[in-house]
Amino acid sequence: MEKLAVNGSSLATVDQGRGPAVVLLHAFPLDHTMWNAQIEALSAHYRVIAPDLRGFGESEVSEGTVTIAQLADDVAGLLDALEIGEPAALFGLSMGGYVALEFWRRHPTRLRALGLCDTRAEADSAEVSAARLATADRVLREGPRFLAETMIPRLFCRVSERTAGGVEPAYIGATRELILATDPRGIAAAARGMAERSDFTPLLGEIHVPTLVLTGEHDAISTPAEMSQLAAAIAHSWFVEIAGAGHIASLENPVETTGAMSAFLASVKEAERATGS
Ligand code: MLT
Repeated sequence: MEKLAVNGSSLATVDQGRGPAVVLLHAFPLDHTMWNAQIEALSAHYRVIAPDLRGFGESEVSEGTVTIAQLADDVAGLLDALEIGEPAALFGLSMGGYVALEFWRRHPTRLRALGLCDTRAEADSAEVSAARLATADRVLREGPRFLAETMIPRLFCRVSERTAGGVEPAYIGATRELILATDPRGIAAAARGMAERSDFTPLLGEIHVPTLVLTGEHDAISTPAEMSQLAAAIAHSWFVEIAGAGHIASLENPVETTGAMSAFLASVKEAERATGS
């Protein structure tokens, strides 16, 4: 991990491999480690940048509200700090997908391809938004244990195996520990930021970069039905459903997730070659 000064804060990031830049943005309230398998595989052919977003992992915390626009600008600042001038392929999962959409709107010339994984374009309803503000207050009062308990069964489809007397997969325990170790101020700031994010639904028709829309077959948060509608609204999109995975497809079926990302990146390169761009 490398730490860089970006937009007045310190951002920790993985910067691994050589080649065209591929940026991986994590979900809430996790960090870059949810992409470990993809970092290992993709860095054989690409320069993989996988930051801990502001307030998470080893990155500095900003108190109050951290908006999705601020997180998108952090990514642009990070690319500057790493001297990556050429357009990058940007994949974001769930909250990372919200940031990827804002990055597309705010920094379109820096984008070569977009990956929207287990995410959504809609803004929050008033009810969801109010629940996020309540979560922010509660996590500051009590710490993240309640959040780990409520979120883990929604993030993974294999949680029920332990309830059925089986052994919980290691990545589930590791994710629980990660949430418990996350600074409540970082969680609260991002929850408030998500509560006020924009609705991108009316803008989807304006996305003209090649886009991968990827979802876990059993994702209960961004369902395959919703994700296929998202893909249908974007002109140059691929829709991929990852078998045997819930919301965090990168962890629950890393092989198929990496395979879909690699095939998509190869197709982007092929299309660029064909059009001479
Ligand atoms: C995530 O995985 O990043 C969250 O489910 C996003 C959200 O709460 O909307």
